[in-house]
Amino acid sequence: MTTSDSLRVGIVGVGMMGSDHARRVASRISGARLVAVSDPDRPRAEELASGYDGVSVHDDATGLIGSDAVDAVILASPGSAHEEQLLACIEHGKPTLCEKPLTMDGDSSLRVIRAERESGRSLIQVGFMRRFDPEYAELKRLLAAGALGRLLLVHNTHRNKAVPSPEFRSEIIVRDSLVHEVDVARFLFGEEIEEITVLRPAPTSLAHEGVADPQVAIFRMSGGGIVTTEVFVNCQTGYEVRCEAVGERGTVTAGLSQTGLYTTRANLDGDAGWWGGPVAPDFTVRFGRAYDLEVQAWADAARTGTVTGPTAWDGYASTAVCSAGVESLQSGQPVKVTLADREVLS
Ligand SMILES: NC(=O)c1ccc[n+]([C@@H]2O[C@H](COP(=O)([O-])OP(=O)(O)OC[C@H]3O[C@@H](n4cnc5c(N)ncnc54)[C@H](O)[C@@H]3O)[C@@H](O)[C@H]2O)c1
Repeated sequence: MTTSDSLRVGIVGVGMMGSDHARRVASRISGARLVAVSDPDRPRAEELASGYDGVSVHDDATGLIGSDAVDAVILASPGSAHEEQLLACIEHGKPTLCEKPLTMDGDSSLRVIRAERESGRSLIQVGFMRRFDPEYAELKRLLAAGALGRLLLVHNTHRNKAVPSPEFRSEIIVRDSLVHEVDVARFLFGEEIEEITVLRPAPTSLAHEGVADPQVAIFRMSGGGIVTTEVFVNCQTGYEVRCEAVGERGTVTAGLSQTGLYTTRANLDGDAGWWGGPVAPDFTVRFGRAYDLEVQAWADAARTGTVTGPTAWDGYASTAVCSAGVESLQSGQPVKVTLADREVLS
């Protein structure tokens, strides 16, 4: 396609993330338009499509991916469906923005990387949107410019108000939530993670039965730096995501001021008022701007046949770290991360 054509985007899976991306592509992304959706919950897909002009509904993901009317695909289906759908996208040569996780384990991620390499084209961007958040991007820029000196430590906080589904088990907290900080660590240090430990503090009484929440993860980077991360998915207050980088000559924190507003409020029940500001209710609010920038960058690159965001390798490496993290969660011990040799992968 030429750069003047608009990218015809199909979305697979239109739950929370897919419907958010649908609104984004339909209304805020330049050079792209929403043309198709697919979801096993067909009424959900039809309801979404009815809100826009010219959006077709496909019975299955493969039909959408193979359609001549679709130039590029956003995969927002559950991670367990990604491998098969990514392989179909590669087979049809469709640029793809795949929500994290790339796949559910290292072996399946490697199959995807190999298929992409064999196709001779870079097609896959993984949905690690923190890289596009203006504060995280500025933090990375400061580090790259040497403003803090050598990076020594990173401390992350990742909290959700609550997770209603009892199926969001301890391992899923590692694979679905911690995976973002795995990518942040690799992104900020520009290194791989060599070892991971995931600790289980005494759980909150508000977690589902048997779920280890909160968790504390420690990553050892290949250059010797350390990253600590608290993940707490039933923290009750809201969606709080922060990152503090500690360098030899200073520190920078992203995510402290999410609205920029400082508010005072009278307390009607007593004599003292309150000061502060709202906490974002969920990731669509906290990272709304980051998702817009992520999808815009993906669409711009897809129109020129390139990938400029996190690649399938980034997806594979983070999946491999999370698999080691699940092992550590079970044993309580540090677990080494073993990655395939990037150069000899074929
Ligand atoms: N980047 C982020 O910040 C972020 C945030 C949330 C979720 N996610 C990721 O987005 C993806 C979707 O998560 P969600 O929160 O929207 O989940 P969700 O449960 O709200 O929606 C998933 C949708 O996929 C559909 N689906 C199920 N099986 C499918 C299949 N085989 N093919 C196509 N569609 C299928 C379901 O019917 C549902 O509509 C997951 O990979 C998740 O990890 C990313």
